[in-house]
Amino acid sequence: MFAQQDPNLIQLNSAGQLKHFLTTEGLSRELLTEILDTADSFVDMSAQQVKKVPLLRGKTVVNLFFEASTRTASTFELAAKRLSADVLNLNIKTSSTSKGETLKDTLMTMEAMHSDMFVVRHSDSGAAHYIASQVTPHVAVINAGDGRHAHPTQAMLDMLTIRQHKGDFEPLKVAIVGDILHSRVARSQIHALRTLGAAEIRVIAPTTLLPRHIESLGVKVYTDMNQGLKDVDVVMMLRLQKERMQSALLPSESEFYRLYGLTEEKLKLTHPDSIVMHPGPINRGVEIETSVADGPKSLILKQVTNGIAVRMAVMSMSMSGQMTEHQAQQGGV
Ligand code: CP
Repeated sequence: MFAQQDPNLIQLNSAGQLKHFLTTEGLSRELLTEILDTADSFVDMSAQQVKKVPLLRGKTVVNLFFEASTRTASTFELAAKRLSADVLNLNIKTSSTSKGETLKDTLMTMEAMHSDMFVVRHSDSGAAHYIASQVTPHVAVINAGDGRHAHPTQAMLDMLTIRQHKGDFEPLKVAIVGDILHSRVARSQIHALRTLGAAEIRVIAPTTLLPRHIESLGVKVYTDMNQGLKDVDVVMMLRLQKERMQSALLPSESEFYRLYGLTEEKLKLTHPDSIVMHPGPINRGVEIETSVADGPKSLILKQVTNGIAVRMAVMSMSMSGQMTEHQAQQGGV
């Protein structure tokens, strides 16, 4: 666990533009909306024959994934390539990390290769923030998920998916269901939904999977899924993070599924036009019934597709904000 300071002291430049993207917490509605609008323009571009723009031409993006990933790592790589960057995916398992090289030494080594952006996933909360505090001034850092703390690009691709299907956030009742305790996704979603003005944010989980004082984030807490799902417009399921559970927090997976799994039967309690989301990877028959995961309300694969556009947006905005800051510090503009 790395110590953290006010994220906006480090993730925004002096003009209030993004220069790193570490968390959705504390970002303004204008900035979150700018990310969504920029991502929308890249969604449109993805439908064209040539899916590339030169916004990061000449820049080198290094993907540093110290934890496993399918969706995030792949869509960051595609996003960087569609922005015309040179991309290096450092394989942590076969890197000198396995010989004991420290995170700081790995960073300095990658910086020596004239990297311009680090995309970082790490099991320790605060790792991306720490890296952003250590890199040389022209390097941008994007958090691809740190411990239980934040997964800001996941939250923003979720917001883009909701906006595409529901338009306005203000009338929405949104339920986030499952392992809230270990979920960096839930925290980032809650901050984004609050800032974007969602009418009601509910969290639904057994007491053992709820963080203490979660109400302080402005959510309504339900331990009964049947009550919590009533009339909601959006259901956001979460993965059970067994790898982060240090003790037995559940009687069994089958009991969890009975009480908190999203089944067709429970889905009937939601608003007739409700949508179903899950950041993935999904555990079928543990968090969600297969027919719901693959059903007409499910936007799970749309979320994956939107990950490319959102990541293109935050990479291009951060690089631009970082370059503006660097030039200003050097007396250029
Ligand atoms: N949603 C998400 O972060 O998935 P991956 O772990 O596959 O990147």
